[in-house]
Amino acid sequence: MVGGSIYVGNIQKEVKEFCRDFEAELLEKNLGLFICAGEKNEEKRLDAIRINFPSEMIDHSTATGWFGYEVHFEKASFMDRTVIRLMMRIKKSFSDLKNENIAEFAAKMNA
Ligand SMILES: Cc1cc2nc3c(=O)[nH]c(=O)nc-3n(C[C@H](O)[C@H](O)[C@H](O)COP(=O)(O)O)c2cc1C
Repeated sequence: MVGGSIYVGNIQKEVKEFCRDFEAELLEKNLGLFICAGEKNEEKRLDAIRINFPSEMIDHSTATGWFGYEVHFEKASFMDRTVIRLMMRIKKSFSDLKNENIAEFAAKMNA
C-alpha cells in the first residue's frame, strides 16, 4: 500500500520518488494506492490520484482510496496554518477520517 496526503495538489515528494524508484517492483505486487485530502469534490479527488501516481500503477492497483483528512494546527508550520485559515477556512484542529473507505480498501486488498 502506498499513499500520502495532498498539499496544494501534490502528494509528498518522497511518495513520488518511491513510486518512481520502485515502480517495476510495485507492479508485481498486490498494490493499493490511497490519499488523505480535504477536497470535497469526488472528481477532483480522483484527479489528485491520477496526477500523483503513475498511470501504470493506478491501472495495476487492486484498490485506490480516499481516507478522508485531518488538520492539526499544533503540528502545522506557520505557512501551513495560514493556508488552513485563509484557504480552507478552518479555525481549529479536527479529524474527518473516512473509516468506511478505509474498511472498503482493506477488504479489496485482502480479497
Ligand atoms: C497547506 C495545506 C494544503 C492543502 N492542500 C490540499 C489540496 O490541495 N487538496 C486537498 O484535497 N487537500 C489539501 N489539504 C488537506 C490535507 O491533504 C489534509 O489535511 C491531510 O489530512 C493532511 O495529512 P497529513 O497531516 O498527514 O499531512 C491541504 C492541507 C494543508 C495544511
